[in-house]
Amino acid sequence: MDLSIEIEGIHFKNPIVTASGPLGFGDELFKYVSPGIIGGFTSKTVTPEPITGNMPPRLVYIQNGLLNSIGLQNPGVDLFIQKTVPFLSKACVRIISVGGENPEDFADVTRKVEKFADMIEVNLSCPNVGGKVIVSDSQLTKEILSGCKAMTKKPLIAKLSLDLDVVRQSQIISDSGIKIVNIGNSIQGARFNFKTGKPFLKHVKGGLSGPAFMPIALWKVYQVKEAFEDLMVIGLGGVTKAEDVMEYAIAGASIVEIGTQTMIDPKSIQKIIEDLKNMLEALKLDFKAIVNVSHRGGFR
Ligand SMILES: Cc1cc2nc3c(=O)[nH]c(=O)nc-3n(C[C@H](O)[C@H](O)[C@H](O)COP(=O)(O)O)c2cc1C
Repeated sequence: MDLSIEIEGIHFKNPIVTASGPLGFGDELFKYVSPGIIGGFTSKTVTPEPITGNMPPRLVYIQNGLLNSIGLQNPGVDLFIQKTVPFLSKACVRIISVGGENPEDFADVTRKVEKFADMIEVNLSCPNVGGKVIVSDSQLTKEILSGCKAMTKKPLIAKLSLDLDVVRQSQIISDSGIKIVNIGNSIQGARFNFKTGKPFLKHVKGGLSGPAFMPIALWKVYQVKEAFEDLMVIGLGGVTKAEDVMEYAIAGASIVEIGTQTMIDPKSIQKIIEDLKNMLEALKLDFKAIVNVSHRGGFR
């Protein structure tokens, strides 16, 4: 069966894309997995200047997930272009994630990276940098998106926050003329060590990822597709197997990203793609046919 899907004129050979962050800039992943087998690769968020990230400890494994407070660590856009861009594979869709603190930052990074990307993901929702989450401010979000749009004709993806109302956020994204939303970043959370009485993370708060939050993200994908039939949704959160990809597609996701699972076992991506193909063959359906099927009454 056909696993391919097209979004805003970009062809994905299958809907499996790596999420921004856990795999950094891909050098480690591509030792284990050929870029030729995945639909797309999303870079870690790139900012105008280098960021060293938060102080350790900044990762805590929990039951069915991970709490991280990495804090957008990256080499800055100029070093990224010099060191990473020459190795970005064209064997899959190249999505570059851009970040910053204000509209000028986002526009600057977008301008510099856009010719090396097939799509640009605008990170409006990092939970691990100071102050408020950008997408909580509708005016700022609109200014950032219009600044990025002015810098590129490549499709933009707006990455939402799962900590906030996704329908309200999607309204802002849609009003800004953006057609694709990524359902969200990791969810804010904390863990405390009962022996020491201290938080596990230096910054107390981190972002929860992994299977623990999959039902929340699935519900938000469903909600956005119910409210905005025309918005394309990238689903993510806790995917570890092909069945999870099916669930996200059924809820309304056209593309499904995998993050934490790739840190635990990068090779599992290949199995997920093979299993997905087998599951669709058993159903005798192309991938496209199952996208959003929950809003059409399910498999009749
Ligand atoms: C270690 C780590 C680093 C991350 N860094 C970024 C980042 O730089 N930019 C971003 O948009 N999301 C980042 N994320 C969030 C992921 O892209 C994704 O939204 C989240 O982990 C949920 O997916 P998962 O459960 O498959 O990991 C990061 C997640 C983790 C675990």
